[in-house]
Amino acid sequence: MSIFGAHYNLERHSIGLAVAVVAVASIGGLFEIAPLFTIDETVESAPNMRVYTPLELAGRNIYIREGCYACHSQMIRTLRDDVERYGHYSLAVESQYDHPMLWGSKRTGPDLARVGGKYSDQWHVAHLDNPRHVVPESIMPSYTWLLRNEQKTDDLGDQLRALQRLGVPYTDDMIAHAAKDASAQANPNSEAASGVSERYGNDTNIRAFDNNSHKLTEMDALVAYLQILGKLTDAAEKDPANAGAGHD
Ligand code: HEC
Repeated sequence: MSIFGAHYNLERHSIGLAVAVVAVASIGGLFEIAPLFTIDETVESAPNMRVYTPLELAGRNIYIREGCYACHSQMIRTLRDDVERYGHYSLAVESQYDHPMLWGSKRTGPDLARVGGKYSDQWHVAHLDNPRHVVPESIMPSYTWLLRNEQKTDDLGDQLRALQRLGVPYTDDMIAHAAKDASAQANPNSEAASGVSERYGNDTNIRAFDNNSHKLTEMDALVAYLQILGKLTDAAEKDPANAGAGHD
């Protein structure tokens, strides 16, 4: 019997047809669910993976608000040309605490997964204020308002709490100090600055990102965020697959 003949018969048996419809439709579901069975093996363990500070999280929100992801991906592929240009390919653990993910597939500008530490704060400030200041041929838009806009901090505690519910290991202490920590991270001379390194680690960048420690701006937040991209864990540096990356 031809396949169409079998289908013809199936259409005349409502229960058989219902079972067949469920079987076929479940294939799509299986493709989505099956990878989750191996999630423990897929996500590398990185005990030193740290969470975003409240200021970095605020910067991440601005990154999303301004649509930076429309031109920049944050996922270095395993392809050789990607690895040679941007460094070790992105590991699953590096975006473990990202809600939402910002992997992306559209690259009008370069991938930013490891841009942290590549440029100085001043470079980022000048570049975001007007990319043509530092890259004359750039087609990236200017974000002049970031230096003017004050960064609000009052809702950061609530945001940390929401992320805590999603499984990000923010402590109640971090939530209680979120607003204060955000201001202190951009003001190294403030008394609260030591609390930021206590809660988030000694490697946390604490400085006036926009070169003005008297005012907390959206520029402070966005630059703080850009400067830790690829730096939340050293899992990629320790990865044995790293051996061939970038130099052969
Ligand atoms: C219309 C597309 C577009 C948008 C939107 C955009 N960019 Fe860019 N970006 C580019 C292009 C093109 C370059 C390369 C030229 C240059 O350096 O300016 C670039 C370069 C960069 C670089 C330097 C990367 C490197 O490794 O040299 C950073 C950092 C950056 N963008 C951050 C941002 C941030 C943050 C936002 C959002 C506030 C943003 N971009 C929005 C197109 C864009």
